[in-house]
Amino acid sequence: MNTAAGRIDWTRRHMPLLAQMRVRFESSKPFDGMTMGFRIHLEPKTAVLMETLLAGGASIQAIGNQGTTQFDTVEFLTEAGATIIEKPGETKADIEANLDTLAALRPQIVLDNGAELIVRCLDNGTPPMGATEETTSGAFLLREQFEGRVGFPVIVINDSPLKAIVENKHAVGESTMDEIVRTTNVSLHRKRVVVFGYGWCGRGIAQYGRDRGADITVVDIDPIKALEAAMDGFNTASADEAASLGQIFITATGRPGVIPYERMEMMQDGAILVNVGHVDTEIDIPGLHSNTDRVEVKSSITQHDMPSGRTLFVLADGQMANLAVEGGRGNSIESMDLGFTLQALSLELLATNPSSLPKGPQPVPDSINKWIATTMLEIMNGAS
Ligand SMILES: NC(=O)c1ccc[n+]([C@@H]2O[C@H](COP(=O)([O-])OP(=O)(O)OC[C@H]3O[C@@H](n4cnc5c(N)ncnc54)[C@H](O)[C@@H]3O)[C@@H](O)[C@H]2O)c1
Repeated sequence: MNTAAGRIDWTRRHMPLLAQMRVRFESSKPFDGMTMGFRIHLEPKTAVLMETLLAGGASIQAIGNQGTTQFDTVEFLTEAGATIIEKPGETKADIEANLDTLAALRPQIVLDNGAELIVRCLDNGTPPMGATEETTSGAFLLREQFEGRVGFPVIVINDSPLKAIVENKHAVGESTMDEIVRTTNVSLHRKRVVVFGYGWCGRGIAQYGRDRGADITVVDIDPIKALEAAMDGFNTASADEAASLGQIFITATGRPGVIPYERMEMMQDGAILVNVGHVDTEIDIPGLHSNTDRVEVKSSITQHDMPSGRTLFVLADGQMANLAVEGGRGNSIESMDLGFTLQALSLELLATNPSSLPKGPQPVPDSINKWIATTMLEIMNGAS
């Protein structure tokens, strides 16, 4: 038996919304005859999503995001009928080449996590009928750098208020604190934790950190968000003020360069740096590597002796720590059941009625949000 099969079975049992989607797709086959370019973390929760799309008739060509692919899950998915292009041990350059390969297959439907695949499909002679983009960072890329260039509908899953509340706030908050404590084995009680970004993820991280006894300081470049953090009872500070007072730093902004190397030089001996934003450029890891040696002290923790004589520690080399630390489980299954049902229903709409949607990035239609919220409440209340 495949070593991932038990984990995937456990996961499937806790995804009742996707189970409903599967029954629906098995009879309606919305993706029959379509090639779907699928680019998202390849682990048990996405495996259940992929099974659901395969049940809807999709022919899936897939790769993961760097650093989070579980290869026994890949084996399972291959047996289930998907084609996974990624191989173990691939570098950033290999991942770029895989993205090119996937775009060159001219998928009719794209599911992306970071928008790098969507961007590569923009100039395809036959562009996709439509795409979904999972992340805030990917949506920034499409709305800023590629503004006006996206000639097909892209439903931004992250724009759904449901995903923001259930996944970004509650699940990221909970899983970030779980994985920090599990990986470091360090208690959070009275630790001075600095959270960069008080968006949906930052709010959850601050809340779950406080629940575990940490003393939270929030840094947000938007004064309205900083005021909200203060009204919620958290300390606020500028990035430079916070640099010298924190013991644990967590970035959750979706923007690069949030902790540049110069800011690391202000930090106290023993500070721990963690990123949970989608891009691994929030913390200046290249700057750290060019000024210090990288010594692995413990699984997923690296030590960096600074020229100042102080030592800093980084989790998962600055990759999205709640998933990328060794054994990282990411967000709760239930939150991903909701997020992936947003995906499934959005992909169904793109495949069956793309002309009903405008071109370019747009939020999940409200009818989908309302159906999922109603059904999830029914499930929580034991009625479904
Ligand atoms: N780890 C996970 O499981 C997971 C899950 C969902 C989203 N994400 C990622 O987390 C990141 C944040 O998502 P979100 O939904 O909270 O976004 P958001 O847009 O709601 O919030 C981002 C916040 O960061 C602030 N910000 C931007 N630049 C900053 C800077 N230099 N310093 C301080 N604050 C800054 C913004 O003002 C904003 O308040 C994104 O990259 C998203 O893709 C990760």
